Amino acid sequence: MKEKPIGIFDSGIGGLTVVKEIRRFLPREDIVYFGDIARAPYGSKSENLVVKYSEEALSFLLKKDVKLVIVACNTSASVSISSLKRIFPNIIDVIDPVIDEAIKLAKKAIGVIGTKRTILSGIYEKKIKEKKNGIEIFSKACPLFVPLIEEGWIDNPITKAICGEYLYGFIEKIDVLILGCTHYPLIEKTIKEVIGNEIVLVNSSQATVSAVKSFLNENGLLNPGGGKTMFWTSDEPGDFKKLGSLFLQTPIYENVKRIEM
Ligand code: DGL
Repeated sequence: MKEKPIGIFDSGIGGLTVVKEIRRFLPREDIVYFGDIARAPYGSKSENLVVKYSEEALSFLLKKDVKLVIVACNTSASVSISSLKRIFPNIIDVIDPVIDEAIKLAKKAIGVIGTKRTILSGIYEKKIKEKKNGIEIFSKACPLFVPLIEEGWIDNPITKAICGEYLYGFIEKIDVLILGCTHYPLIEKTIKEVIGNEIVLVNSSQATVSAVKSFLNENGLLNPGGGKTMFWTSDEPGDFKKLGSLFLQTPIYENVKRIEM
């Protein structure tokens, strides 16, 4: 069981920010990554469709005989986590770990940014209130961020201007900002330039890795010696490889395989 891989999925390449952290902090784990780029973005889709796509992604990973699945997509986790956990219990998502960290850090109020679907689901407000009633939460959908990032417009004045447009009038109220989308770590520097040094940014990719490490440790599932990553995508492997390297901050040398969904 220990030697089995960890399955990770996202609507596309955003979840690679989680892969990057797993490779850094758990380098002996084997990973099977699935990026559903043919059907991305999930953030603008209806709840039913996101649940359906997420169940299909999970079922694909289960066929790869994984020991744990990381839902490396806030959008998917925000609407489908309970149905996914009914199918397979060993699931960690990117929402719970980041909430715990934000609550520890917040003195004033927590801000959350994410896709339209994630913010509409109200999942962050609900979960934060369950853990710490009384804390103020402000959320904002930033639907243009994912396409800008996928276009590779990372260090770009237009992205910075859009970031300002979304965040002015919002940041004055908070002291902690959750990046509630696995794409957003790519523009963390730009977001920091807009919000300044007073607000602490919490990033779901990093928080998730600590949760994964504890889970594997507590269940005796740490792999004593692996370290391979297998990449699967539902559309052109070439596109995945090119943009994926940006997310991983290292070239993808592995063969990226395609699966028809
Ligand atoms: N990476 C996904 C998330 O964390 C968003 C991308 C999408 O809209 O498909 O929400």
